[in-house]
Amino acid sequence: MGFHHRHLIDIREYSADDIMLMLQTAERFRSVNERRVKKVPTLKGFTVVNMFNEPSTRTRSSFEIAEKRLSCDSLNFGGSSTSSVKGESLKDTVETLCAYKIDMIIVRDKHAGVPNQIAETSGVSVIDAGDGKHQHPTQALLDLYSIWQAKGTLDGLKVGVVGDVAHSRVCGSLVPALNTMGCEVTLIAPPTLLPAAPEVLGAHHVTSNLDEALGELDVVYMLRIQQERLENSPFPNLREYSMLYGLNEKRDKLLRPDAIVCHPGPINRGVELDDFMADHPQRSVILDQVYAGILVRMAAMYLLLGGSEDGLTA
Ligand code: CP
Repeated sequence: MGFHHRHLIDIREYSADDIMLMLQTAERFRSVNERRVKKVPTLKGFTVVNMFNEPSTRTRSSFEIAEKRLSCDSLNFGGSSTSSVKGESLKDTVETLCAYKIDMIIVRDKHAGVPNQIAETSGVSVIDAGDGKHQHPTQALLDLYSIWQAKGTLDGLKVGVVGDVAHSRVCGSLVPALNTMGCEVTLIAPPTLLPAAPEVLGAHHVTSNLDEALGELDVVYMLRIQQERLENSPFPNLREYSMLYGLNEKRDKLLRPDAIVCHPGPINRGVELDDFMADHPQRSVILDQVYAGILVRMAAMYLLLGGSEDGLTA
């Protein structure tokens, strides 16, 4: 099938064909998720470890649901309930898990680079479920899937990524992936929330003026203010940030009639988005993004583990 990856850690290693295969496979899994019995034997006999060392609602729950729908065995593990609090090293932890003959580790960690370390130590497939400020590749895939479904294409779309670019792992995967798929990306942020070299991400334009940029965009992707990662007060207060960079009912008039609004969640309501925009029935695709999380995570596990086609034909 022309897919040769063992890990999903760095989206920059995925070509446009690889990403499109992921999206098309996610689309095949949509029909599974819309049946009365939402389960296929695709990964029966495989064992997946969900190692979440940092809080998560969407990523963790959608991986767990995806695993159940694919019929694999899974182990939920991580955080303060493990022997890492007694000083056990990551290497020893991973070697212990691998002694159970597992097939995949899905990891979220506050430290960038942990998924790569696990891939080197373990010899099993690894999916990065968000590492520090580095990457969050399955988030980028579900974002691309949601945009592709809403717009019918990705090539040539003008996408504005707004807000806390500097601290965002979502941005670290999303911007390169949009670029790979032929989108024209504009980063929109106060200078204090841009990385030192924003061009490294691969965006086409960078601006600090949201109001000037909005009218050009097909997609407005609002990033969460990463309050847990902010250093040195990059803006005076959240109210001022929201006045300049929040998407709200007033700014709705600046958008193209067919523009859509994305957010990875969790939303800081009243900061990045007001209720009008977050819940806008035509523009907001935020809950579509949540649903797409199950589909692309099923697709990623299936493609990386080489599961069977059993039950996948309609
Ligand atoms: N978007 C995202 O990663 O959300 P969670 O932190 O809830 O998983």
